[in-house]
Amino acid sequence: MASLVGAFAASHGPLIVREWEHVPAEQKSRVSAAYRELGRRLTAAKPDVLIVVSPDHWSNFFLNNYPAVCLGVGEASEGPPEPWMKDFPHRQIAGHPGLAMHLAEEAMRQGFDPAVSHRLTLDHGACIPLWRMELERLPKIVPMLLNSIEPPMPSLARCYQWGALLRRAIDSYAEPLRVAILGTGGLSHSIGEPTMGAIHEAFDRETIKLFSSSEQSLIEFLEAKLPNSGNGSEEVRNWLVAHGAAGGRGFELVDYLPVPKVIVGCGFASWRV
Ligand SMILES: [Fe+2]
Repeated sequence: MASLVGAFAASHGPLIVREWEHVPAEQKSRVSAAYRELGRRLTAAKPDVLIVVSPDHWSNFFLNNYPAVCLGVGEASEGPPEPWMKDFPHRQIAGHPGLAMHLAEEAMRQGFDPAVSHRLTLDHGACIPLWRMELERLPKIVPMLLNSIEPPMPSLARCYQWGALLRRAIDSYAEPLRVAILGTGGLSHSIGEPTMGAIHEAFDRETIKLFSSSEQSLIEFLEAKLPNSGNGSEEVRNWLVAHGAAGGRGFELVDYLPVPKVIVGCGFASWRV
């Protein structure tokens, strides 16, 4: 049977690439070290497959068609389309259709109803963490694009339940695969709205604290505070999927720091699974 061998979360943001050379040296070194530490932990978990839970930043979907959740069930995904991601080392990213289709079928069977795609494009949301983790070998990637950008979005409780569902589905997959999960996005940031560039450090720190509390108190806090913490903060949904996969236990912060130059409260974490 397959098993979950690791759960991780990391921030992303276009300016982590585009403004990188202007980030103060001390912050640059902490962000780099945190990504690398996640890479080290991921490598130590020896995953065959990594489920990457990320928003789609208009690379596959637009207002005419925006699924709440889309699972990538194809043989491969395309690399990032953003011109400033051109140095990302993979143009094709191998998938795992067997596991991905099993996840989709189990989701359907249990009333979750995801969309599926046989050919997705993975933008900076998925690819910045994969790049900055400096992995020697990229595991096969099953993408789960979760709408954490455009209202209405899946509820926070549903995102947590998605994690638990993925865990059950992994446990019931017949092949002895080692599977890890990475949620990417958040923590606080604000894009294309009047508070553009604001980082809500108090919100980020309380969110981090509550990942070690009950999922109910975490979800209640997020439901109350997300509307005033910057639209990019909604991407914390992807962390909730990893949290749900880990059964809501064993959260460990690797690092957190607000980085004004990249306008993101940058957080990095893993869970005991
Ligand atoms: Fe994003």
